[in-house]
Amino acid sequence: MSSNEMNGTVFAPDNDLSENAYVSSFEQYEELYQKSIESPQTFWGEIAKQFHWETEANPKDFFSYNFDTQKGPIFTKWMTGASTNLSFNLLDRNVKNGLADQVAYYWEGNHPDDYSRITYKKLLQEVCRFANVLKSHGVQRGDTVSIYMPMVLELPIAMLACARIGAIHSIVFAGFSSDSLADRIDDCKAKVLITCDGAWRGEKPLEIKAICDEAMEKAAKLGHQVSKCIVVAHLNRVTPGCVKAAETIKSTPWNDDRDVWWNDEMEEAEAACYPEWMAAEDPLFMLYTSGSTGKPKGVLHTTAGYLLYASTTFKNVFDYKPGDIYWCTADIGWITGHTYVVYGPLANGASSVMFEGTPFFPDNDRYWQVVDKYKVNQLYTAPTAIRALMKFGDEPVLRHNLTSLRILGSVGEPINPEAWLWYYRKIGKGKCSIVDTFWQTETGGHVITPLPGATKMKPGSATFPFFGVKPSLLDENGVEVVGEGEGYLVFSQPWPGIMRTIYNNHPRYEETYFSKFPGYYCTGDGARRDADGYLWITGRIDDKLNVSGHLMSTAEIEAVLTEHKKVSESAVVSRPHPIKGECLYCFITPNQNEVFDKTLVNELKKLVRERIGPFAQPDVIQHAPGLPKTRSGKIMRRILRKIAINDRNVGDTSTLADESIVDQLFANRPE
Ligand code: WT7
Repeated sequence: MSSNEMNGTVFAPDNDLSENAYVSSFEQYEELYQKSIESPQTFWGEIAKQFHWETEANPKDFFSYNFDTQKGPIFTKWMTGASTNLSFNLLDRNVKNGLADQVAYYWEGNHPDDYSRITYKKLLQEVCRFANVLKSHGVQRGDTVSIYMPMVLELPIAMLACARIGAIHSIVFAGFSSDSLADRIDDCKAKVLITCDGAWRGEKPLEIKAICDEAMEKAAKLGHQVSKCIVVAHLNRVTPGCVKAAETIKSTPWNDDRDVWWNDEMEEAEAACYPEWMAAEDPLFMLYTSGSTGKPKGVLHTTAGYLLYASTTFKNVFDYKPGDIYWCTADIGWITGHTYVVYGPLANGASSVMFEGTPFFPDNDRYWQVVDKYKVNQLYTAPTAIRALMKFGDEPVLRHNLTSLRILGSVGEPINPEAWLWYYRKIGKGKCSIVDTFWQTETGGHVITPLPGATKMKPGSATFPFFGVKPSLLDENGVEVVGEGEGYLVFSQPWPGIMRTIYNNHPRYEETYFSKFPGYYCTGDGARRDADGYLWITGRIDDKLNVSGHLMSTAEIEAVLTEHKKVSESAVVSRPHPIKGECLYCFITPNQNEVFDKTLVNELKKLVRERIGPFAQPDVIQHAPGLPKTRSGKIMRRILRKIAINDRNVGDTSTLADESIVDQLFANRPE
């Protein structure tokens, strides 16, 4: 079924679910939404009351912004004058409110025999101890700390320890290569790097510390040396079955002058640490996202606004109630993990499952086994995982009792109606609401999403804006598309969770997000509004592509490919992929007198893995004796996209400098 045919099909939330939800009708949503847009100060001010503020916001300066480059510098400020601390609000406040013994995380490791749990009280103590460890190594308010870790409990502990002392964490997803990690360590000038000796991904060992060593050396060559590397010993606590394999991992590479073990450091550390009171707009963390050049782009989020937004979206979009067990499968190394594994859930005193494993190990029913084991009420995952699991049919699902589920979430890319319906029928048994949450690293939290008790769902539509978010669709000339239609998805005013700048590069922030349409934040995505006002995200309309929910830019991959000494030119386009959503299809023009062969293809794949990470590996690398260019030399990517899918219907080629190149490229397709 195409999304067009699905347009007419609406799925109403289950009655019980609706009746008991925080927002239980569409009318109630509309009322709250209007209030959030018309009087942001009253709306968010009311929400802020549940949190601790060491000093209060100035009522005369609660919210101010400028989104128009023609009027001056771009800025967003919420709650000027207020000061607070995230770790205090997420931990001390909850402990004081009676949640000391409540489980914050049920940790489920790579292997089903590996599991543990941590209560709010214990989490607070560990965070304080690690905050003291960081201080003992000279980390101070305003310093940056890089973190490169798998999904272990020490990861949220490290993040919140940074927040406690006002240090800015910069987490790099542990699937990135040492090159990528080095660039990011250097860009933020991290004082300390926190990592693990290694980890298991299914049956595959990952030598995480070895990657860090390479990265620290490379960063030093770029001009920046980290002063300490703190290492969690994770491999020695894996299940007996894996220990034998663990022996095959080389013993952890070590530099006595620089490296220390987490456990040794924690032994002496005191379990109390007075929080650093941070101003509302002080940085909380940065997180790198793909830019159009190779240079990393550190998206910066700040204190008060991010707290309000992470907690409010979490509560309403997942309808989290005390006693619920919530599970977000995302890695903390991405924004989904920051906001919806750590900050959002803990701000609400929630109990979450934190999962280190993969959906396929030891068997393809692992997700369903975990849902059953912990009686999960909210499951939040990605379309690529759903599509991969659909392949195995219903049997692995039917092995387990999934009746605890109430809300199913989707994030990372548009969800195709087939996957939506499978999720709805087979996992949710037709009773759960699906929240298709559209957002970005930059938005800090959900910006377009259904509310599970209020919004009638249409499979494939992210539906309506969250509180405080004002979307518009613009045509190429910046004119608003009213009613039904399609255009650039933009936002005309800031909500509390929007990014404030690119770390150390405000001009790039203004250029990337605000220069195309003065007065608007430009998402880079396209969207369509249907006759009922529903928003459908149609995908990226810039040079970005989305592989398994990982955003990357074609320019970034091209820069890596052309580094190879045999390559003269490259052009990368995305091609639809049944599981990954999109995959990379690369056209390579070798230098004169160089041959294009299997060796070159393998070298190029390896180069991309090394420079960026395994998840960016191209699916297809094809020989291009020349590229289709206009007379002015612009590569016509729409033609390359047609060649990638073997569609001869390439459209108008009259502006091409050399039309014969198109036939040659079709003839050269490797499949
Ligand atoms: C891009 C942002 C935000 C969490 C993970 C990705 C795409 C994200 C959806 C959705 C359609 C989606 C967009 C967006 N995207 N969620 N529900 N429907 N597209 O964060 O790496 O910053 O990527 O992911 O293209 O711009 P990110």
